[in-house]
Amino acid sequence: METLIPADDVQHRVRSLADEIRRDHPGGVHLIGVLKGSFIFLADLARAIAAQTDGRDVTLDFISLSSYGASATSSGQVQLLKDLGTSIEGRDVVVVEDIIDTGLTLTYLHSILRARAPRRLRTACLLSKPSRRKVDVPVEYIGFSIEDKFVVGYGLDYGEQYRALPFIGVAG
Ligand code: IMP
Ligand code: MG
Repeated sequence: METLIPADDVQHRVRSLADEIRRDHPGGVHLIGVLKGSFIFLADLARAIAAQTDGRDVTLDFISLSSYGASATSSGQVQLLKDLGTSIEGRDVVVVEDIIDTGLTLTYLHSILRARAPRRLRTACLLSKPSRRKVDVPVEYIGFSIEDKFVVGYGLDYGEQYRALPFIGVAG
């Protein structure tokens, strides 16, 4: 496995994203993790945001969408597999995604979340592949912009493997 972003670099960048998010949300933030790919990013991000607070102002929930099945290329079809457990009405929400590729998943997610009237809706993604974008979608917090390579680790999978790696690697 070729390493694209070492674990230390990932941790360092996640902490600075957490600083930005904390600064932008003095009244607290509700994180929405997109399963399964964001689970490690969300866990580290949430702890880093809460590290300098008393922990009350960071809440979180999960949603699960599918557009890929077992394959590595986007079908463009997005399905809601598991909905949120709590209301987001009037809340300051940050969607936490692993990677923005075509942007189709996030565009769909934004449309269903906006309909639920959050006070603010922002997005944090660990990785972005700008050259692959099919739709323009706003992302306020981006960890790393990368080239068009299929990456795994730190939550990201290829056929459900490699999610538990602490670094970002290039599959194959
Ligand atoms: P989009 O709808 O094309 O932006 O796809 C976003 C989703 O596709 C991500 O949340 C990932 O689950 C998956 N994905 C896109 N690129 C990669 C990759 O390089 N490695 C692993 N999963 C990816
Ligand atoms: Mg995903």
